[in-house]
Amino acid sequence: MKIGFIQFNPLFGEIDRNIEKVRVLSKPVEADLMVLPEFFNTGYLFTSKKEAEDLSENVPNGKTTQALCEIARQKNIHLVGGLIEKAGDKLFNAAVLISPHGYVATYRKMHLFNEENLWFHPGDQGFEVYDIGLCKVGIMICFDWIFPEAMRILALKGADVICHSANLVLPFCQDAMVTRCLENHVFAITANRTGTEQRGGRYFRYTGRSQISGPVANLLYRAGADTEEVGIAQVDISAARNKSINDYNDLFSDRRVGFYGDLTKS
Ligand code: ACM
Repeated sequence: MKIGFIQFNPLFGEIDRNIEKVRVLSKPVEADLMVLPEFFNTGYLFTSKKEAEDLSENVPNGKTTQALCEIARQKNIHLVGGLIEKAGDKLFNAAVLISPHGYVATYRKMHLFNEENLWFHPGDQGFEVYDIGLCKVGIMICFDWIFPEAMRILALKGADVICHSANLVLPFCQDAMVTRCLENHVFAITANRTGTEQRGGRYFRYTGRSQISGPVANLLYRAGADTEEVGIAQVDISAARNKSINDYNDLFSDRRVGFYGDLTKS
């Protein structure tokens, strides 16, 4: 199957223009599964909860989810993209999974980064895996990468491809994700944004370099640091279903789970 990402520089607060950008960039795409950055429709650097709330949307009835449904239907493609979900009086840093037939599911970011803790409620639904026919996908958002448990749980639940929407500012994630893929023998699509934002006395430079990495620490595609870029790779999903390392070692069945109990103590 063909998997990929759309990397661009979202304009802060310009939901319609950012959706239109995705519509234009996705037009020539021929792929089965594409991932968009975290908050691809709003930009990232909020200065208050009110500002985030004003840019939030109901899922699945809000305009961004509905626009993604329309693109997915027209392109016969699966999409994952990040947005602010408003659920009752709570805001979540969320990503939606959309199939050619419509809305499938929402992932709510479990590990909030920096001032996100002021605006958003931490994810309350854990990590789920979705069978989209050609493969099983799990979703992570940006800073989730630094907690190896996130990708491990998704892999143990059967994910073949990790869809990782991101707005990365630290320089470590791209290389770390190559190792995460090796640790779990899965594919990962990290869809990052580019550009800078200067708001409320803060300045963020986003690191681009979106990538597709594979089960044996193979980097299948890496974008430029500051380019508007669509990256696609053809992958053989069976490589993610083989957890064997050699005749005597298997990534999953060799785990000494009886000695790992401390991992779940706080
Ligand atoms: C991040 O989690 N957006 C760095």
